[in-house]
Amino acid sequence: MRKPIRKAVLPVAGLGTRFLPATKAVPKEMLTVVDRPILQHVVDEARAAGIEKFIFVTGRNKGVIEDHFDIAYELDDTLRRRGKLQQIEALKADMLPEGAAMFTRQQAPLGLGHAVWCARDLVGREPFALLLPDMVTSAGPRGDQCLAQCVEVYERFGGNVVAVEEVSPEETQYYGIVGIGEDEGHAFEINGMVEKPPKGTAPSNLIISGRYILQPEIFDFLENVEKGFGGEIQLTDGMIELAKRQFFHGVRFDGRSYDCGSKLGFLNANIAFALMREDLGPQLRAELKKLDL
Ligand code: UTP
Repeated sequence: MRKPIRKAVLPVAGLGTRFLPATKAVPKEMLTVVDRPILQHVVDEARAAGIEKFIFVTGRNKGVIEDHFDIAYELDDTLRRRGKLQQIEALKADMLPEGAAMFTRQQAPLGLGHAVWCARDLVGREPFALLLPDMVTSAGPRGDQCLAQCVEVYERFGGNVVAVEEVSPEETQYYGIVGIGEDEGHAFEINGMVEKPPKGTAPSNLIISGRYILQPEIFDFLENVEKGFGGEIQLTDGMIELAKRQFFHGVRFDGRSYDCGSKLGFLNANIAFALMREDLGPQLRAELKKLDL
């Protein structure tokens, strides 16, 4: 029996510089895809994968994230007095159970690896999920989202799991790349990892995407890794060390991802998610046709 994946780490302490000025006062994770904060979409994906405890690594100016997962007493009261019961129920459904949301702070944005390391005491010594909250995903024909597929592969193989996606060979230099060992198609053994390989040297065109299942030993390596690319503590550098001792599997997940940390990915996500909605899709499709595309 594998240890179950109960906890998820969501690092939300980044500065979101690619999205200024929108992110000057509003955390990028609270920008909306249609009418839900990006972070709520990611929490929904984690809940659907069976996650029970949510560890948010926040920073300064991120207080609204805590407020979002708390009861808004005045709002509830006003909605109740106005008879808006449907909205009250919708807000309730998004709430996490009492005690299920935990917050810690990364005091300086020293990199993703450092943000994950800040969660070490809240995670404890058990395997956990890591979701980068600027990526949202939609399910493919299988019907389950990316993290649920990672958990399934973890249940089969144990060890560590990362979701991967294909990019064109020209783009591999911008990402963390995995090497492919024994390959089943949907899942495969990872036989190497490299962060931002120089052009023409990447072991594959599969990039490490924003969903992971990691063993707690990752914290021991993150504690000791040197600053890497961009002067930041890189998660991939910690994973490269961990991979010398433990298995990693990759998941070519069925579905789509949208990088909401970039303007284009954010716009794509808004259009794609709105088109999927019964209440908005048909009208939006008609409006898009009117644009001179
Ligand atoms: P990104 O590099 O995409 O986020 O990190 P960023 O630094 O906020 O974005 P830009 O490049 O300046 O626009 C991926 C995730 O890791 C978190 C971010 O909040 C984001 O969700 N992160 C990154 C941290 O929590 N701490 C860090 O030091 C760096």
